[in-house]
Amino acid sequence: MASKTFGLSRGLKRRLAASPLFDLYRGFHRSWDLYRWRRGVVSHPPPAIKHHLVGSFAGRFETSVLVETGTFFGDMLQAHRRTFRQLYSIELDPWLARRARRRFAHHRNIELLEGDSAELLPSLLRQIEEPCLFWLDAHAMVGGVRGGGLTPVVAELTAILEAGFPSSVILIDDARLFTGTGDYPSIQEIRDLVRAYPPDRECEIRDDVVLIYPSCVEGSGGELQYGSNSTPSPSARRLTKPK
Ligand SMILES: C[S@@+](CC[C@H](N)C(=O)[O-])C[C@H]1O[C@@H](n2cnc3c(N)ncnc32)[C@H](O)[C@@H]1O
Repeated sequence: MASKTFGLSRGLKRRLAASPLFDLYRGFHRSWDLYRWRRGVVSHPPPAIKHHLVGSFAGRFETSVLVETGTFFGDMLQAHRRTFRQLYSIELDPWLARRARRRFAHHRNIELLEGDSAELLPSLLRQIEEPCLFWLDAHAMVGGVRGGGLTPVVAELTAILEAGFPSSVILIDDARLFTGTGDYPSIQEIRDLVRAYPPDRECEIRDDVVLIYPSCVEGSGGELQYGSNSTPSPSARRLTKPK
């Protein structure tokens, strides 16, 4: 979720980013991004909108565990460190992983893993027993801008679907990049992959995020259940999507 830092060298950028003032600067930058988006100057939604989306899905589906791929500077963790009881985040870049470990050293509910999310996610998932909100955002960055053509998203999504997690919510950032070029699957390929695994899930795009969540079915007692059965009974009546 970074924006370009005016052609500074990688070393200089990293030295600046090590300063405690840098997080203040990023906070200011996020407000500026939000302002520009609201004025229609930039087309894709800024981090504040993504943070809001994650918070609203966590509330709606009552997920108390966040699993993020791609920590970067840890802005999503910072925004939701109190929303979730437990947060996990995986970062490939050793320098970013170290920086995040320093930033969240005093947060016992945040666990940071260093490595490739495609490799680490399956073993992490074996340790988790509760419904999660997955924030899949491990896209390669080129010059601080996402979308370098590389993404582990198919491996990540397959690992989650294989592991079950029927009541979980999967949000994939940067839907606009899913054009079927480079490593990026098309949105249709994502839909097909999701449909290959139970339970029934909705798959839609909002604010540049692919939203995958359990379809809403009515339980035998008339209560609403969001994918709590991995194979909803044929008589289960599909209701409207969650608000
Ligand atoms: C768009 S940024 C993540 C932003 C962050 N999730 C947020 O909301 O603030 C993408 C991050 O993914 C990391 N990354 C790229 N490929 C990865 C992989 N295979 N495994 C883990 N992290 C990866 C990059 O180093 C970068 O820090």
